[in-house]
Amino acid sequence: MRHTLEAYGYGEIRTPVFEETQLFVRSVGSETDIVQKEMYTFNDRRGRSLTLRPEGTASVVRAYLENHLGREAGVRRFYYLGPMFRYDRPQAGRFREFFQVGAEAIGSGDPEQDIEIIDLLSMLLHDLGLKDLEVEVNSVGHPGCRQAYESELRAALERERGKLCATCGTRIEGNPLRVFDCKNEACRGVMSRLPLLRNHLCDACETHHATVLAGLARLGIPHKENPMIVRGLDYYTRTAFEVHYPPLGAQSALGGGGRYDGLVEACGGPPTPAVGFSAGIERVLFALEQTSAEAPVEPPIVVLPLGDAARVPALELARELRAVAPTAVDLSGRSLKALLRSAGRGGAHVAVILGDKEMTRAEVTVRDLLAGEQETSPRTGVTAAVQALLQRHGGEA
Ligand code: HAM
Repeated sequence: MRHTLEAYGYGEIRTPVFEETQLFVRSVGSETDIVQKEMYTFNDRRGRSLTLRPEGTASVVRAYLENHLGREAGVRRFYYLGPMFRYDRPQAGRFREFFQVGAEAIGSGDPEQDIEIIDLLSMLLHDLGLKDLEVEVNSVGHPGCRQAYESELRAALERERGKLCATCGTRIEGNPLRVFDCKNEACRGVMSRLPLLRNHLCDACETHHATVLAGLARLGIPHKENPMIVRGLDYYTRTAFEVHYPPLGAQSALGGGGRYDGLVEACGGPPTPAVGFSAGIERVLFALEQTSAEAPVEPPIVVLPLGDAARVPALELARELRAVAPTAVDLSGRSLKALLRSAGRGGAHVAVILGDKEMTRAEVTVRDLLAGEQETSPRTGVTAAVQALLQRHGGEA
């Protein structure tokens, strides 16, 4: 993931695991489920309210402003990887501590920046070997579009009030868009009859949205429009998107994001447009487990010592081999047959076997695990032999 993110010119930012509670209340939104029900909030020794971060965007914006990272004109690109915390009901794909990878491009309001962010997320997943992803895109407009739409939505919700759950009843006044987050069956039935924000965009937001869709098509990123996407956080403006992996079932969203043109200003900075995404790492791993694209557990080279006398020399040999490619040493002390079987299953290409016989003759056995062939090599020539083998497989060396 780091490799892909850095290839797009994004640099790592590490923010603290907790922040002042108000940062999340202001940015994620006081009416959202995250702020109302899911934050781990506590007081420090001086009675200040702190919260374990439920997401990364607010912290990046806070750090961007506090450290004057917007000093120079142009776009700043950040990525982060780390734990997030949400007090949610634990279930498959939903945890109270989970890891996110995310990227934020701060300083451009152009639709091409949205396209790049969606391209980056889909490449990140593609490079891991995931296919059949569904990219869904929507526009939630700018606050002006939303104001006109919200009064129409409120009127429609009033007409359906009797069918809504108690929570959605209270949402009508406060933040009617949040009704689209509701999982309640009855509320979901009402949803199909509600007016859609997508049909209330101003000309500028409509043009922005059309440019994003055309750009995705031009880059060959399969996507579809989903006017129901509102996302569970309040800071979004214009583009909002999600990437789903349908075989995961109920929690199929691997990642999501969008534009948040008002957030930097809401956090006390100058008006600064921005766009970003985050993906849930556990869900990405679940998706990988369901495909044949399972990440190899062994590096390409494994050293297999046979017998006690070979164990420390094996560590020494592995040090040398690491100049060629990542190398593991299997110290489990099992039989050669068992060692070879797990090396092959783990995805290693070459096994270097060091036994009593090899030790006395200053030799090693180099086994090509893909071809199932092996040869004896003098101990001194082992790195060259392994390198040649890996190159023949078009691999890691
Ligand atoms: P989010 O949609 O709330 O967006 O979270 C992004 C991803 O984190 C989800 O698609 C999911 O894969 C994963 N995730 C969320 N909650 C959980 C959980 N309880 N357990 C496991 N995985 C979870 C954001 O967080 C925004 N900050 C994205 C963004 C960045 N928008 C702009 N920039």
